[in-house]
Amino acid sequence: MMSGINKVAALEILDSRGNPTIQVSLTLESGAHGVAKVPSGASTGRREAIELRDGDSSRYQGKGVLNAVKNVEQEIQPALVGMDAADQQTLDEKLIALDGTPNKGRLGANAILGVSVAAAKAAAAEKEIPLYRHFADRKNYLLPVPMLNVLNGVSHADNNVDFQEFMIVPVGAPTFAEALRAASETFHSLKSVLKNKGYDTGVGDEGGFAPRLHSAEEAMELLDHAVAKAGYKVGVDIAINLDPAASELYENGAYVFNKSGGGSKSSEEMIEFWADWIKRYPEISSLEDGLAEDDWTGWQALTKRLGDKVQLVGDDVFVTNPEIFQKGIREGIANSILIKLNQIGTVTETLRCIELARTHGYSAVVSHRSGEADDTTIADLSVATGVGQIKAGSPCRGERVVKYNRLLEIERELGNSAKYAGRTAYAKWATELTAH
Ligand code: PGA
Ligand code: ZN
Repeated sequence: MMSGINKVAALEILDSRGNPTIQVSLTLESGAHGVAKVPSGASTGRREAIELRDGDSSRYQGKGVLNAVKNVEQEIQPALVGMDAADQQTLDEKLIALDGTPNKGRLGANAILGVSVAAAKAAAAEKEIPLYRHFADRKNYLLPVPMLNVLNGVSHADNNVDFQEFMIVPVGAPTFAEALRAASETFHSLKSVLKNKGYDTGVGDEGGFAPRLHSAEEAMELLDHAVAKAGYKVGVDIAINLDPAASELYENGAYVFNKSGGGSKSSEEMIEFWADWIKRYPEISSLEDGLAEDDWTGWQALTKRLGDKVQLVGDDVFVTNPEIFQKGIREGIANSILIKLNQIGTVTETLRCIELARTHGYSAVVSHRSGEADDTTIADLSVATGVGQIKAGSPCRGERVVKYNRLLEIERELGNSAKYAGRTAYAKWATELTAH
């Protein structure tokens, strides 16, 4: 056993959107310590664990987290003193029991996650090993394919695009470093394509562009153009992944294309829409939240229809919740899960989802949130679990690139014991990816 937990301190800091979030610093008796900064979403799933906000409108429009800070220092700290930080499961179970609610609403999932992650980091520090090795000590590691959100609509942008994210995915590169280079070059080429067309090139919350495009089809065209202009082949070197975040379109049982003025579609019509898109754009390797979190029947039909053609990632529909995910697996929902630590609130439950995915033939994508800080936990988590995919925003903005830079560091450190996932991340249909 390592030295026990000695101190758990918390601080209200700002995230990348300028909203308050919580930082937790956990120190062991040896003096080793770990710091975690908790992310925050904007297009959140309805069943996510509760992010505790003060609701005091005289501070930060009610978004302060002083109660979460107080919960860490006054309730969680005394309960954890002396515990083994390396025994993540016991620690997380203690946190869950202490909170006592099914959705971590009393102490706050933000407070709990901060402690859970800070404990892992403190344990790694005491062992003097990198966080990924603390999570999983392996001989060989898989470096993830990055999905980089470069064009935005809906709640991440003010334009005429109904889909939240268009991502470039450098599947054809031999290493993570080369993959990141291809992505960055494509990002800059996209910037000049947009500029030449007179579009705005300011970036949104995740560092992607949010120009006033006329349609989602136009977004696909511009991406094709940008990839080619950067000297790559779309569908060969660079695949395209989508996260339309369809829960945001769902109103009274229908999908409403508010921004583009494209009317409304039933669940069946949405499935036809996606089937058509997947056919028209063979470079699409992954579709996240193609339907809404409350449309489980639709999800079943979507999975039957397209599950062998494209990766169907459940984000809002599973909210990284092992129980909900298990039900989804039983009912044939999706073939992949998005992994966001703060949707569930502990490292242990997050790892449980990844394990469930593995045992049931689902893929998993480790993900950031649209509100982030300079915390790199997800980079280490993606490598430790070998899921082969990470979603961390565009190759621009400090809180996004810090994750990618951490992966560069890990790749260098691992040398020959690191392999870049590349095309194998999408093995089921990799052979179908063809150039236009
Ligand atoms: P969020 O969105 O972090 O704003 O919830 C990201 C996503 O939908 O994947
Ligand atoms: Zn999503």
